Amino acid sequence: MDVEKIRNDFPILKRKINGKKLIYLDNGATSQKPIQVIDAVSNFYKKNNANIHRGIHILSEESTLMYDDSRNKVSRFIHSKNPEEIIFTRNATESINLVMYSWGKENISRGDKIVISEMEHHSNLIPWVVLAKEKGATLEYLELDKEGLIKEGELEKIKGAKFVSVVHVSNVTGVINDVEKICRTASEEGAVSLVDASQSAPHMKVDIQSIGCDFLAFTGHKMLAPTGIGVLYGKKEILDSMNPFLFGGEMVVEAHKYDMRWNSVPYKFEAGTPNISGAVGLGSAVDYLEQIGMENIRAHEKKLVSYALEKLGAVNGISIIGPQDSSRRSGIITFEVKGVHPHDVASILSEEGICLRSGYHCAQPLHESMGLQPTTRASFYIYNTEEEIDFLIENLVKVKKIFGV
Ligand SMILES: Cc1ncc(COP(=O)(O)O)c(C=O)c1O
Repeated sequence: MDVEKIRNDFPILKRKINGKKLIYLDNGATSQKPIQVIDAVSNFYKKNNANIHRGIHILSEESTLMYDDSRNKVSRFIHSKNPEEIIFTRNATESINLVMYSWGKENISRGDKIVISEMEHHSNLIPWVVLAKEKGATLEYLELDKEGLIKEGELEKIKGAKFVSVVHVSNVTGVINDVEKICRTASEEGAVSLVDASQSAPHMKVDIQSIGCDFLAFTGHKMLAPTGIGVLYGKKEILDSMNPFLFGGEMVVEAHKYDMRWNSVPYKFEAGTPNISGAVGLGSAVDYLEQIGMENIRAHEKKLVSYALEKLGAVNGISIIGPQDSSRRSGIITFEVKGVHPHDVASILSEEGICLRSGYHCAQPLHESMGLQPTTRASFYIYNTEEEIDFLIENLVKVKKIFGV
């Protein structure tokens, strides 16, 4: 992987902050965009822009082809056999809500068991808390150990469950869950499974065939694409059996004064004008990632996180959250600086051009179950380097000096 060449594709990385190089370590929140994606979106508006599926004029045909082509690319990217199983949404949050509204409200009733884990992002937590309350269903949690891994034996809780939803990679600890095993266990119990791949799809090979999930959700903006475009994969037969969640244009094939007929999948879940340029950008992002190779991306980030675990772990007063073993975690490293509030850490580092995240990272139950206060998170991507990690550590040492800790 030629990181210098990759860096040259990202115009924002040339930016200086207070005269210093920008060091972007907030990829868990959103990624930066390469010129190829920026150009794909910009060229779409310069040359092709029209509404899709509606017109028979040339621009509408071109736009429709480009939108559908992105769906094909996303389908290939996650190894789905059928592009009709790919629904474009606004983001992972909307994808999960779609499952909750369209599948959950129809299929979950009083006394049914829903299983999620303690490490879920609020996007894969709140919908199930709300549904369980509304339906009188039971919500059970796969509990975490001290390192943030799902405790041994917890999968027993999947017994008798109707629905299981887990994150592939934690956005706090970077823990990579054995989603193959979780989905297999769910399937043996006759439960429907959902995997939140928001932190895995951008960083490693995600193959829905080997995972064996019924639904998989992810978000474009964390994988080089624009904001406002997300993906829900669903098994065709389950999607066919579900009612739509949003109503309006494009999701019906016939509409009368008192009746209508739903369109086929995926269109019945894509009411109204979709984010066409966002989908085009996502298609271009998929091309870009595939050109580098997902295995190479994983290897690069694993190297960075190993380096960070070793170097950061050696700094007095800094404790790293999550497992020490880099093969069990993604390129995310969350830590506490003893005696300094994470917002102070992030704000001082920002002055030095370093962007990272502080707080609960939309995963408050994880912090509570691991007995943590708000934390600081550095998250890596294809353009990050060991030198940037050195600079981060140098500045963390300065922060400690400022606070006298
Ligand atoms: C694990 C995980 N799930 C879901 C989401 C939600 O993504 P979005 O805000 O794009 O819907 C995030 C975003 O941080 C995440 O890290």
